[in-house]
Amino acid sequence: MPDIVLTVLAIMLLLVLVSLLMPLAGRLAVPHTMLLAGLGMGIGIGALALGEAAGFEMAGDVPRVLREFGLSAEAILLIFLPPLLFTAGLTIDVRLLFDEVAAVLLLAVVAVGVCTAVVGGALLAASDFGVLACCLLGVIAASTDPAAVVGVFRDIGAPRRLSILVEGESLFNDAAAIAIFSILLDMLIGDRAASPLYGVLRFVVDFLGGVAVGYVLARLTCWLLPRLREARVAEITLSLALAYISYIVAEDVLDVSGVVAVVAAALTFAVYGRTRLAPGTWETLVQTWHQLEFWANSLIFVFAAMLASGALPNARLSDLGLLGVLVMAAMVARALVLYGLLPWLSLMRLAQPVGNRYKAVITWGGLRGAVTLTLALAISENPLVSSEIQHFVVTLATGFVLFTLFVSAPTLRPLLRLLDLGRLSVTELALRDRVMTLSRDAIREQVEAISKDYGLSPELAAEIAPAAPASGEPAATADDGVASPELGGLSKEDRLRAGLLTLVNREKELYLQHFSSRTISGRMVPLLVATADRLVDRVKTAGEEGYREGFRRAMLLSRSFRAALWAHRRLGWSGPLAQRLADRFETLLITQLVLRELAQFNRRSIRPLLGDETSKVLGRLVSTRLELVEDALDAVELQYPNYTAALSARYLARAALRLEGAEYRRQFEESLIGREVYADLTDDLRRRRLAIERRPPLDLGLNLMEMIASVPLFAKLDQAGLVAVARQLRPYLAMPNERILAKGEYGNAMYFLSSGMVEVKTPRGPVRLGRGDFFGEIALLTGNPRNADVVALGYCHLLVLDSRDFRRLMRTNTAIRSEIESVAEGRLEAVAGAPES
Ligand code: CMP
Repeated sequence: MPDIVLTVLAIMLLLVLVSLLMPLAGRLAVPHTMLLAGLGMGIGIGALALGEAAGFEMAGDVPRVLREFGLSAEAILLIFLPPLLFTAGLTIDVRLLFDEVAAVLLLAVVAVGVCTAVVGGALLAASDFGVLACCLLGVIAASTDPAAVVGVFRDIGAPRRLSILVEGESLFNDAAAIAIFSILLDMLIGDRAASPLYGVLRFVVDFLGGVAVGYVLARLTCWLLPRLREARVAEITLSLALAYISYIVAEDVLDVSGVVAVVAAALTFAVYGRTRLAPGTWETLVQTWHQLEFWANSLIFVFAAMLASGALPNARLSDLGLLGVLVMAAMVARALVLYGLLPWLSLMRLAQPVGNRYKAVITWGGLRGAVTLTLALAISENPLVSSEIQHFVVTLATGFVLFTLFVSAPTLRPLLRLLDLGRLSVTELALRDRVMTLSRDAIREQVEAISKDYGLSPELAAEIAPAAPASGEPAATADDGVASPELGGLSKEDRLRAGLLTLVNREKELYLQHFSSRTISGRMVPLLVATADRLVDRVKTAGEEGYREGFRRAMLLSRSFRAALWAHRRLGWSGPLAQRLADRFETLLITQLVLRELAQFNRRSIRPLLGDETSKVLGRLVSTRLELVEDALDAVELQYPNYTAALSARYLARAALRLEGAEYRRQFEESLIGREVYADLTDDLRRRRLAIERRPPLDLGLNLMEMIASVPLFAKLDQAGLVAVARQLRPYLAMPNERILAKGEYGNAMYFLSSGMVEVKTPRGPVRLGRGDFFGEIALLTGNPRNADVVALGYCHLLVLDSRDFRRLMRTNTAIRSEIESVAEGRLEAVAGAPES
């Protein structure tokens, strides 16, 4: 057979074995990676043996091809590492990761350095090798393996926080290890002067450079995504290209860390890409990456183990002693970081404290895998490294990986059990029991109904249905939860906090759901989700107060809004402001919808779970927030009634299209219509969807001539006077509750109100001014400071006249002048006659 055919066949056969090992790992309750490493070693050693035995040519072909696959360590890293890191980066909870970022970076970067030094030092004392060779082994031993760690920790159901720590660590420490490794290797083969300062500098540049490359390329990809017109396969393909291109651009073009670039790209993509993909693509994309990861992880393990197994026949007994030193030193290094350094970080409030039991698990659970093996291979391939050092590094590194895979990994679960970790917290336990009771109730009824439908005996149904709650108390009627035994262990605050967290998480989920079902546009989703995320954080840190504070802040004008407002007022640009305002209106509208859904969700789902009392507090919070949003929407409605109507109509049209789509899908799934008809219908649907994709533009209503026409004072002007005054007036949009004038300030302009309403806070009490009125004239006439605050009651359209133009107008037009003066006089009298408050 030609070699290429053989190669493909060999890989496919390997994949068959890899797949068969999956259920075996499940049955033996050992990590899959452990069996993969076993398989790789088996093939490696088997091929050696078969290759030597005559008469097995055909049978030996496949293993031979695999063995002589010609994959260098560099190629293995290039081909298999990006999927591993990208998937881990995509699926890690970025927010949680950032909560722990100090601890993760400490574990990742500093720990690699500590491991290099401690292991290097221990081996230096125990062997005859030089300091560079020993440190090289130290750094190879430092990189925990993302796939192995993620796999094992998820497998054993480790607590979330622990998982984030070790997953985050494994993501970043590969980067650190590979960067330090190449620096040390350069030094060993005499490329560069061995200066620690050079090493540190180069590492920093490598790391930051990698972050920059990954971030920029991922942002670029996210920018491209919406331009793919929702072609799902193309979107996923772009993400694949992103992973590899990041690696190559970083590694080979800019000579910074490719591994860091891939991780940074994945994290950035996870944050910004999700809502820029076509609705529903995210889940498919993650699935695709999981598949790629599985292949990459399986093959990298088998290949690396296979190639490394070549070193084993030459292993000596003395190597075993050195391996013992290596294992001990690596554990000590990890323990040093966890017990010696981490507490300092917590003291400086850079990291949350990590419990001692967690630390023990992290020390023991730092599994090593493909990266360690591959780095060792890189040494064995380098002709500039002496064969003694090659043997030393490859044998010990392989031995170390095998130790963590065959000894640490299988004992992790028992260790967790021994330390009583991996259990649910008191709150979680109470909730779990409560959910179980409630669900069992509902399920029992359903089972009974089914058995009736099928004419089965009620005894059978009673036997099969889950048992009623032990107390015999009907769970669904439990009132405030105090009486129900399941929630007895939870304090009021605990329940409220749990309820609030459920609520804010649900809110986020609802935004994403609306996005998936296309009822809200992709542009708004990132903003809304970010708001919900901030709420989650606030609830976590400050409970109810945090929630109140959070939703009040969410109503404030964003930074980009304020920038647009500035551009409107200072530069006269209204375009950006119209955009931001339309965004704000849309956000308010969606928030209103979602809050109504949340109120229902609270009544329907949270109340039975957490009791009446908690649910009432939650209900009050939601309705306070809803009132705030509705007030804001009322203000919009007042000034832009057509716009809110247009937005609502668009929302409804989207919902209608979604229902129509669901209906076609149902008919297709029930075989009522064929594939062609279905395709035609959905095509039509897509066209209509695109037609309403664009949000109706918001007309700010700042047309100068129309605004002037709405001020009666200007009716006194002839055509030439109108043209002249139009040149001097400037439109100004005031926001609800904005203080337009502040008492005591010096005046440089007066204002005409073309629509909306303002309130003048006079000493006699508030005076309202409306369409056609003016204000701010007194300071200009008298030269005194402003005599009152003037506040906008809603969105107000104003015309601004600067003091210089004001004086000109007063000079040239006596009718206007006498009118303004008489109004001002009346106002001044009113102020003078009032007792100062
Ligand atoms: P000025 O003093 O420049 O700034 C505050 C403005 O509030 C003032 O000009 C008037 O235009 C307006 N103002 C003050 N008192 C009254 C009043 N009693 N009724 C209506 N407007 C007033």
